[in-house]
Amino acid sequence: MLACPLCRAALEDLDGRTFGCAAGHRFDRARDGSLDLLRPGRPRRETGDDGGMVQARRSFLDRGRYAVLIDGLGQIVDRLQPRTVLDVGCGEGTITAALVRAGREVVAFDLSKPAVRLAARRLGPAATCCVAGVTEMPATDRSCDVVVSVMSPTSEPEFLRVARRGGHVVVVSPGPDHLDGLRRLLYADYRPHDGEVPLAGALPVVGSARLRSEQVLDREEAELLWAMTPYRWNAPAEGVERLRTATTVPVTVDFVVTTLAVPG
Ligand SMILES: C[S@@+](CC[C@H](N)C(=O)[O-])C[C@H]1O[C@@H](n2cnc3c(N)ncnc32)[C@H](O)[C@@H]1O
Ligand SMILES: [Zn+2]
Repeated sequence: MLACPLCRAALEDLDGRTFGCAAGHRFDRARDGSLDLLRPGRPRRETGDDGGMVQARRSFLDRGRYAVLIDGLGQIVDRLQPRTVLDVGCGEGTITAALVRAGREVVAFDLSKPAVRLAARRLGPAATCCVAGVTEMPATDRSCDVVVSVMSPTSEPEFLRVARRGGHVVVVSPGPDHLDGLRRLLYADYRPHDGEVPLAGALPVVGSARLRSEQVLDREEAELLWAMTPYRWNAPAEGVERLRTATTVPVTVDFVVTTLAVPG
């Protein structure tokens, strides 16, 4: 599945540490097992989530608060019986771990270096974790039986390039009520998510599941949740103050899992 970022040819694991393509391009794994496949010289205007957001996400997910997504997504992907799975924008890898199965090849990538490092340590040899961007995916053409995107950016041409004909794309997007209690505290003008599904205009939808659970967070968990989202950067000061003085925060975790078919 892996592609050389320089020439797009297949990238093979040569000796467990160095990966190479037929043209002689070489990439070494870092000590944590991750592989940097950002094209050298690529302008780095965006960097993905920073270290603080990634740590907050890891701590929050380790408390089991997204269990409904982890269990449900694992089952939905299993039903598609893929041999190769690409996790786009994998973050720190807790959700990727739910996609790993014996005999399945899993490649996971994210633009954020701190996220990929944590993912590589958590997943070990069960998945290949790479630093790469969604507009230059580290996968060869038509090599992925299932391409998964969980609350991450999408790029239509790249999803269509890497997905196998007859394969599937599984997109997780926020349901209308996702993180409602947190957003009500932070923003005076709270509005439910619009429920728009990325890529649904490009590929036929063949399945849709709503995975939802009501939770009551203590203040520490609510602050972790805030710190792992873009709300960390754009919430107004008075909203953050309301969050910091709350004792508990009721939130709905609400996901829409959409399965799209890639025509054969
Ligand atoms: C909301 S997080 C989701 C992470 C993970 N899928 C999860 O559900 O835990 C969005 C992720 O997209 C990554 N990201 C942002 N821009 C990206 C890009 N251009 N290419 C790849 N990943 C990107 C961020 O670094 C972050 O890890
Ligand atoms: Zn190459």
